[in-house]
Amino acid sequence: MEPLGVIGAGWVGLVTAACFADLGHEVVVRDVVPERVADLEDGRVPIYEPGLAELLAANRERIRYTLDMADVFERARMAFICVDTPPTHSGDADLSRVWRVVEELPDVGERIVLIMKSTVPVGTGALVRERLDRAGLAHIGYVSNPEFLAEGSGLEDFRSPDRVVVGAFTDEDGDAVAALYGFTEAPILRSDVASAEMVKMASNAFLATRISFINEIANVCEVTGADVEAVARGVGLDHRLGPHFLRAGIGYGGSCFPKDTSALKQLAANSGYHFQLLTAVIEVNELQKRRVVGKLVKHLGSLRGKTVALLGLAFKPNTNDMREAPSLVLASRLMAEGASVRGWDPVALEEARAMLPSVEVTESLHDAIKGADAAVIVTEWKELQALLSPEARGLMRKPLLVDGRNLLDPAEARAAGFVYESIGRAAHDLDALPETEEPETQLRQ
Ligand SMILES: NC(=O)c1ccc[n+]([C@@H]2O[C@H](COP(=O)([O-])OP(=O)(O)OC[C@H]3O[C@@H](n4cnc5c(N)ncnc54)[C@H](O)[C@@H]3O)[C@@H](O)[C@H]2O)c1
Repeated sequence: MEPLGVIGAGWVGLVTAACFADLGHEVVVRDVVPERVADLEDGRVPIYEPGLAELLAANRERIRYTLDMADVFERARMAFICVDTPPTHSGDADLSRVWRVVEELPDVGERIVLIMKSTVPVGTGALVRERLDRAGLAHIGYVSNPEFLAEGSGLEDFRSPDRVVVGAFTDEDGDAVAALYGFTEAPILRSDVASAEMVKMASNAFLATRISFINEIANVCEVTGADVEAVARGVGLDHRLGPHFLRAGIGYGGSCFPKDTSALKQLAANSGYHFQLLTAVIEVNELQKRRVVGKLVKHLGSLRGKTVALLGLAFKPNTNDMREAPSLVLASRLMAEGASVRGWDPVALEEARAMLPSVEVTESLHDAIKGADAAVIVTEWKELQALLSPEARGLMRKPLLVDGRNLLDPAEARAAGFVYESIGRAAHDLDALPETEEPETQLRQ
């Protein structure tokens, strides 16, 4: 089987490496962070992705980790570029890591093919091609093969993709990359490089649009008495629309949607086009996070001196990724309103402590809510079902629960004694319930 290189040992790189190794390929993974490479060599996986550590361990003899780009091309003639492409201050994608890879390529004197899995703006492939040609490296091929995996289900998404997109400058390179995906029945879309790049940007923009759309419907449900959960079910049953990405909540976050929507908006703007719809999608998402503050103020009045527990700090369940997590914005907003903020997450504690130094990050859910005036479900970890108990409610000073992900059943939350607010569903009144007395004496671990 074709030996493969993987450049960048993050979510995409490690999932790609583990899955291709599991198919029988020898894989050399290169990163630039020495601790990351050392950890991986010692069997420690620096990210939380279900099943990944086990798959890497099971295929240990086929995977090698290195800091040296030359090692990647010792045997491999095809390498996936999986480096990060974060946003710049202008909202454009920062391609510095991609350029660094191009600059560091060894000339092995044979045809090698670079396969771009990182999400890059349309036109990046053409720029890379131009730079390679100018450097006398016309024999280095370039293929756009965007990645669609979602954190939390990365392995499954890799093994059973909805589609594989292969955009190439030459048929020969496209064929070689398509052949790597012989393991899947999924359709393989062959296209030019720019179109492949746009498929990725458009897909993420469309998913973000669905989220902002259902969130706006939820906001209108709140003022009209409809229930967004029923509405989303009814809308999703239309085969033309489908049920996916119609979950109302406090907005999207993470390392992809915010940066990719912003990169597409900027790409359009830089080309003289104002992408109105996407601009609105981004703004709706920003406002949606802040609506939680309004819900807290509605019940508690001023937040000055109040204690609010943020539950679920990673940007979504089953990951420890905190990049662009809604919890970051919420924590800052709440502190700006004068509240003390606590936080808890089942896996992202270390990351949260580093990114939220002013938040008291607790080891247990109970420690986070003990004596709090309100708790906010920010990320829908299933562990938060444990809130549905009179014990949990008894720990809080005020039993106000704002469910930013519609995780809990409203009737069950109320039965457990909470004043329960969610998104796009009927709320009820805090004054109807008495304060809990002496919360400290009721601590249960
Ligand atoms: N995370 C996702 O769910 C996801 C899904 C689809 C696409 N993507 C895209 O894939 C790309 C990678 O995302 P990620 O989440 O895996 O990023 P990540 O930040 O988790 O990992 C990137 C890795 O690349 C390394 N790196 C940086 N420069 C390097 C270089 N010159 N040589 C070798 N390694 C280098 C970094 O040290 C880091 O370990 C991004 O463009 C992202 O938008 C991500």
